[in-house]
Amino acid sequence: MLLPSPWSLFKGSLVALLAAPAYAITLDISSEESIKSAASISAKAMMSYYKGNLPGHIPGAFASKWWEGGALFLATLQYWHFTGDTTYNEETRIGMQWQAGDDNFYPSNYSAYLGNDDQMFWGLAGMTAAELKFADDSTGYSWLSLAQGVFNAQIDRWDTTACDGGMRWQIHSWESGYTLKNSISNGGLFQLAARLARYTGDSLYTEWANKIWNWSANSPLLNNSTWNVADSTEMENDCATQGDTQWSYNYGTYMMGAAYMYNYTNGSSTWLKAVDGLLNKTFDHFIVNGVLKEVTCEPSEECNDNEILFKGLVSSWLSFTALLVPSTYDRILTKLQNSAKAAALSCTGHSNNTCGVRWYLSKYDGWMGMEEEIAATNIFVANMIAFSNSAPVTSTTGGNSTSNTNAGKTNETSDYVMSTITSGDKAGAAILAVVLTVGAMASMGWLVMGSD
Ligand SMILES: *[C@@H]1O[C@H](CO)[C@@H](O)[C@H](O)[C@H]1NC(C)=O
Ligand SMILES: *[C@@H]1O[C@H](CO)[C@@H](O)[C@H](O)[C@H]1NC(C)=O
Ligand SMILES: *[C@@H]1O[C@H](CO)[C@@H](O)[C@H](O)[C@H]1NC(C)=O
Ligand SMILES: *[C@@H]1O[C@H](CO)[C@@H](O)[C@H](O)[C@H]1NC(C)=O
Ligand SMILES: *[C@@H]1O[C@H](CO)[C@@H](O)[C@H](O)[C@H]1NC(C)=O
Ligand SMILES: *[C@@H]1O[C@H](CO)[C@@H](O)[C@H](O)[C@H]1NC(C)=O
Repeated sequence: MLLPSPWSLFKGSLVALLAAPAYAITLDISSEESIKSAASISAKAMMSYYKGNLPGHIPGAFASKWWEGGALFLATLQYWHFTGDTTYNEETRIGMQWQAGDDNFYPSNYSAYLGNDDQMFWGLAGMTAAELKFADDSTGYSWLSLAQGVFNAQIDRWDTTACDGGMRWQIHSWESGYTLKNSISNGGLFQLAARLARYTGDSLYTEWANKIWNWSANSPLLNNSTWNVADSTEMENDCATQGDTQWSYNYGTYMMGAAYMYNYTNGSSTWLKAVDGLLNKTFDHFIVNGVLKEVTCEPSEECNDNEILFKGLVSSWLSFTALLVPSTYDRILTKLQNSAKAAALSCTGHSNNTCGVRWYLSKYDGWMGMEEEIAATNIFVANMIAFSNSAPVTSTTGGNSTSNTNAGKTNETSDYVMSTITSGDKAGAAILAVVLTVGAMASMGWLVMGSD
């Protein structure tokens, strides 16, 4: 994404000055219809960037940023569930099935440069479809099996070569970041395991949720007394140090998983303490003057596409947490309401309700993209919890997505061919790494790495 030119910024503010009222998303936070209408405007803008339904395009594919398809379909699923508008359901179903790979969201077109976090986000989309009762596709993979397939593929990659366990950030040795263990990969799989545990009641998922949580809390990633969540830790010194860049989604994913564990355990005080600790820290760090703000990159306007999405993901996770941990509901709703009001004021761009990045400015800031529209849709939809108490279901409370505990179990040996190189081969490997970096640069991992 390029910075807007001074002229377009000037033009933008001129338009905003002269005509803002006509193009604002007017949001009355106390009105269900008003929130639905705001969400429908940003959802339409968000889908205007999606070409997968057009002739000559591939459903669900974002070649240079594959993981964002997962973020997009998370948004369309939640939009449909909380507003009842089915406009994007077909595109969602087709896109998710097309990218399903071998029932594990690991399609061969992209798998050579994916990180664990990329695959994990699609797994969360599958899980969300199951929990929100998006009907299974009669001829495709069930939504639950896709979440199970991602879980199965990922626990096979649990890495004990350093740090006594944990998920690496990257799947392949040729990717930059292969020697890092990071919070979004570990906290993401923790969240997926917790949600699978609650949906299925299968103790395998509970064991893994506990295992990943405990490993994280014993690593520099998650501090369970201060509730600091670091971004990454380095395997080359056995995870002795941390890269402590602060990102909202690292907090959000551990909080979301803890909320599911709290709900699943019928109210365990240990999990409540974790939810409260992470929630308080999320508020302290990322809510400034009442409004969500990605503090590490927004003030300097250096957020990349991934980072623009983070507070949108966190908006959704806060809304689910409020439903699953009722004692947090009031505190969370206030923050969601203030953030949505500010976000709506940012959606006054280009005479067509284009939303900007920095909600806290309460005006359009000149930025534009699918990521901005996804994040805005997420914060509007998150506010629907005030009107519909439709919490995620389980297999015993109305969920009927078909289980397949063996989903996605495939032989990944060929992926690890690079790990057998000897030191004499390193020159060759370096050349290969350069070649593959062209692909890796497009992955989420590379982009996040660049801003660490
Ligand atoms: C809004 O206008 C801008 C500038 O003309 C354009 O690039 C963008 O695609 C438009 N957005 C929508 C959703 O039509
Ligand atoms: C993989 O690439 C081929 C060739 O472009 C395309 O036909 C197919 O739809 C792609 N599959 C996925 C999952 O994107
Ligand atoms: C499962 O639930 C969905 C959503 O409620 C419904 O549309 C579908 O028909 C159900 N499937 C079966 C096999 O009962
Ligand atoms: C939670 O409560 C329900 C209903 O009383 C019970 O069936 C279930 O076994 C409990 N779950 C746990 C994990 O204790
Ligand atoms: C979180 O904040 C709430 C409300 O301010 C407070 O009551 C609670 O003690 C805090 N909990 C933790 C674990 O920090
Ligand atoms: C779990 O979530 C449901 C759905 O929102 C809620 O009704 C229930 O009270 C929650 N359980 C606990 C222990 O808070």
